[in-house]
Amino acid sequence: MSVALSRLEAHPRLALGHFPSPLVRMKQLERALGAGRELWVKHDDYAGPGFGGNKVRKLEYELAAAVAAGATDVLTVGGIRSNHCRITAALAARLGLRCCLVLNGAAPGEGVGEPASHAMDRWYGAETRYVDRGSERAAAMVRWADELPSEGRRPYMIPLGASTPLGACGFARAVLELRAQCEALGWRPGAIVHATSSGGTQAGMVAGLWLAGWRDVELAGVSADESAETIGGMVRRLVHGVEGLLGLPEGAMTAAAPVFVEDGFIGEGYGVPSEAGRAAARLLARNEGIVLDPVYTAKAMAAVLAKLERWGAGPLVFWHTGGQLANFQLGPE
Ligand SMILES: Cc1ncc(COP(=O)(O)O)c(C=O)c1O
Repeated sequence: MSVALSRLEAHPRLALGHFPSPLVRMKQLERALGAGRELWVKHDDYAGPGFGGNKVRKLEYELAAAVAAGATDVLTVGGIRSNHCRITAALAARLGLRCCLVLNGAAPGEGVGEPASHAMDRWYGAETRYVDRGSERAAAMVRWADELPSEGRRPYMIPLGASTPLGACGFARAVLELRAQCEALGWRPGAIVHATSSGGTQAGMVAGLWLAGWRDVELAGVSADESAETIGGMVRRLVHGVEGLLGLPEGAMTAAAPVFVEDGFIGEGYGVPSEAGRAAARLLARNEGIVLDPVYTAKAMAAVLAKLERWGAGPLVFWHTGGQLANFQLGPE
């Protein structure tokens, strides 16, 4: 085993998710599309706590650091429908930590019509504060953290999306998990496609592909919001952080692997459902019984469908990163 790999294996992590997540062939989708290649889905939407999703893997590392630091409270930030905040709240409840969320957007009224994800933040016992704009969240979190020591509490702050080098280690590990599943099945993917936004998932996968020795597997992150240039820069910076954590020189992992972000499927903007995304979500539900979310995974699947023959050769793995609660709001009890 390489030194970098053994450093990853040795890094403190709390086993909070339900892994390995299922890897399933989408035969009905292949048939419906007349696809000339195998299509597989890696179900991180079934990762467990907080209704699952890609944040579970990142938080296994970030929360291990919080517990090691003796934290009593974890603070993080997101939009009012944030999957990351909801999953942080669920895992904090499981660990007996208080969860403090700074959310941007108008505080939704409680009850009927409330976004389901926000209602779950409450159910999991998180405390919430609200700011108008995304750009105000980080400073509000720092102010909140500064208040806590005088109350005898020990805060631990997790940045947006847990997209830190530490959080990205969760997805480096995830690629090794996929490699073990593929080896057992006797094939190797030609391409992996997933939704990308704050870059931690993609950075972890870049690192994981390097550690797995899968240099020829194409990786495409499909942007939910920012330009390819912006997200590509964030991903590269995070990978450099992972290199540092694993004792590698800067650039070791990115030198051979260009970071590819597809930004042609954002539509009208972050969180605004696109027509191509809606069509992709209908297709997956009707042919595979798979539920996508309108913000991230439906747009990523729209990209898969539009570019089916262009990414890699051989089986394509669509990495389902979760988020389905965005389809729901509370109804009458
Ligand atoms: C469902 C879902 N998919 C994909 C992403 C993108 O992941 P990342 O922020 O690590 O790029 C997120 C979070 O932003 C998400 O909630």
